[in-house]
Amino acid sequence: MTASKGETMLKKVMMRLPRQEAYHNMVTGQYMRIILRLMGKENLESELMWHHLSPFDYHDIGKAFLDQDLMAEQTIYTKDQELLMMAHVDYGTGVFQQIAEIEPDARMFCAAAEEIVLFHHECFDGSGYPDGLSGRDIPLLARVCAVANVYTRLRENAGGPMYQRTIKESLDALKRYSGTFFDPDIVEIFVKGTTEELMEKQLVRQLDIIESHHFSF
Ligand SMILES: [Fe+2]
Ligand SMILES: [Fe+2]
Repeated sequence: MTASKGETMLKKVMMRLPRQEAYHNMVTGQYMRIILRLMGKENLESELMWHHLSPFDYHDIGKAFLDQDLMAEQTIYTKDQELLMMAHVDYGTGVFQQIAEIEPDARMFCAAAEEIVLFHHECFDGSGYPDGLSGRDIPLLARVCAVANVYTRLRENAGGPMYQRTIKESLDALKRYSGTFFDPDIVEIFVKGTTEELMEKQLVRQLDIIESHHFSF
């Protein structure tokens, strides 16, 4: 099946992103899936898919329209640079508005992607952007993305291995900003789920070691 006009447009924009940034979008999408599964909302994604595409995989797509030299900078941004960076939520929203216009069957997909792209930098206490929404006025998928996005940033080593945080450090950071940046219910579910999964893995490893000893003679 040949790709539709909208799919081609999406692919072209994504290809303008540096590889590390494209990867960041995909990994954040994966964490969104994990969080939604922990919330018992694993079926939500299938209702929003368009062809084989998920609206979870594009939250920072608008960065494709930013000055790539600015993006590559590892220093702290000046106020002006920060304003330029903040525009990525509007640029990204524009992409999905255009796709919605030319692809009538992508309506649900585009609406969900727009919510995520536009509001993933809103903060639970109202101190975020672009609209300063707070609490549950921030759409659910954007609240989920906010947690997934920051966790992904902390875990990845985009600025070099020294910037990469351990799982524990990253979860602690989420807890520190629970209720200010993040929806506290989502942080609690994610931290609990991840910790349990890690403990389970550790238990499996311990059982492996015990069994390998037991069966080795
Ligand atoms: Fe972003
Ligand atoms: Fe991001």
